[in-house]
Amino acid sequence: MSTLAKTPDVVAEISERSNFDVEAVRRDFPVLHQQVHGKPLVYLDNAATTQKPLAVIEAISEYYRADNSNIHRGVHALSERATEAYERVRVAAQKLINASESKEIIFLRGTTEAINLVAQTYGRKNVGAGHEVLITAMEHHSNIVPWQMLCDEKGARLRVAPINDRGELLLDEFEKLLSPKTKLVCVAHVSNALGTVNPIKQIVRMAHAHNTPVLVDGAQAVARMKVDVQDLDCDFYAVSGHKLYAPTGIGFLYGKAKLLEAMPQWQGGGDMIASVTFEKTIYNCLPYKFEAGTPNIADTIGLGAAIQYLNRLGLDNIEQHEADLLRYATEQLDRIPGVSIVGRAKEKAGVLSFVIENIHPHDIGTILDSEGIAVRTGHHCAQPVMQRYGIPATARASFALYNTQAEVDALVRGIRKVQEVMS
Ligand SMILES: Cc1ncc(COP(=O)(O)O)c(C=O)c1O
Repeated sequence: MSTLAKTPDVVAEISERSNFDVEAVRRDFPVLHQQVHGKPLVYLDNAATTQKPLAVIEAISEYYRADNSNIHRGVHALSERATEAYERVRVAAQKLINASESKEIIFLRGTTEAINLVAQTYGRKNVGAGHEVLITAMEHHSNIVPWQMLCDEKGARLRVAPINDRGELLLDEFEKLLSPKTKLVCVAHVSNALGTVNPIKQIVRMAHAHNTPVLVDGAQAVARMKVDVQDLDCDFYAVSGHKLYAPTGIGFLYGKAKLLEAMPQWQGGGDMIASVTFEKTIYNCLPYKFEAGTPNIADTIGLGAAIQYLNRLGLDNIEQHEADLLRYATEQLDRIPGVSIVGRAKEKAGVLSFVIENIHPHDIGTILDSEGIAVRTGHHCAQPVMQRYGIPATARASFALYNTQAEVDALVRGIRKVQEVMS
C-alpha cells in the first residue's frame, strides 16, 4: 500500500469539521503561486518566517503612497495620519494578546530585541552576584545568550530546567530549581525545534510562588493560538511580527505596566524623552520611554494589517487547521521506515522535526528543495536541544494557515525520493 494513502477517518474528519477554506486563504498569498525547480512551491519553513498576505503588502505600499511621514512630532496632516495609524496598531497588538493597556506594548524589531531589552533593563537592575536566571533546555538561542551575557556581567548563574525524551519540560525538576536566588524565569511558549507547547500558566504559578517574574518567548505561539497574557499572568511576552504574517523588522514586547514603569530606560534618543537640557533629561512615559528614535512605521502598519487578517480568519480556526495538518503529517511520517520524529510532546503545535537514518539533514533539505519543497535543516538556533538528543541537526517542516494536506503528501513523496537518491 502506498504510504501516501490517507487515513480515511482523519481526512473525512478534517474536511467535515473544517469551515476554514484553505484554497481561498492561499489566494491571499502571492508568493505561494510559483514554481521552484520546475515544481510547485511547497513552503514548509513557516517557523523560520511566514509568507505575507496581500493585505499586508498593500497596507505597506498604501502607507508609502498616501501617508508616509514621521510620527509623534508633526502637526501636519500626514504626520497626524501616520501617528494615528501607528498607534492603532498598538491597540490591535494589545487586543491580540489581551494586554490590559496599550502602553504595555513596546514596538521593537522582534523577539530577540524584546528579550535583550528585558535583559539589559530589568535584568541589569534586578540580577546580581549570586542570583540565578532559570530557563529551559528547549530554548532558542535568543532566549539563552542574552541571559548568559547578563549572568557573565553580574556574576549570576544560568540554570537550565531539563526536558524528557518526548521534549516536554520536567515540571518537578523545574520547580526544584526555583529558589529565593531565582530572579527571572524565561521560557518559550512553543519550542521552535520540537513544537512543544509549554504549560505557561503552571510555570507562572510556580515562579510567582517564589516572587519570580516570568518572561515568555512567544515567537512561535502568537500566530498559532489565542494568547491571553492576563490569563497566563506572565510578566513579559515577546513577539516577532514576521512569524505572524507581518513584515520582518517589527515585533513587540508586552510587559506588565508596573514592571515596565520601574525599569530603567534602554536606548537614549528622540521620542523617549519628555524634556532635555544639558544638565538633566526627563524621560518619557510608557510606552515611548522604550521607543527611542524614528520607529519602523511602515512595517508597524504592516503588522496591523497582519493582525487584522488573523482576526478575520480566527485564531481558533487557524489552531485547528494546523493541529489537523500536524496530526496527519505525523501519521504519514511515522509510516516511513527510517524516519524518526524528534519531539513528541503531548501538547504540540505545527512544528515537525525529523531525522532520516543514515542521511544528513543537509542532504534532506537539498533534495527536498529540488522537489520544490522548502523545509529548514540544521540546529534551528537551538544547539542545546540537538545536544540533548545527541544529533547534529534535524530537518523541520513547520506549518502555517495556508498549508494543505496535499503539501504534506508532497513532503512524504519528497522524503521517499531522498531515501531513494541517498540509498
Ligand atoms: C522560539 C523562538 N524564539 C526566538 C526567535 C527569534 O526571533 P527573531 O529572530 O524574530 O527575533 C525565534 C525565531 O526563530 C524562535 O523560533
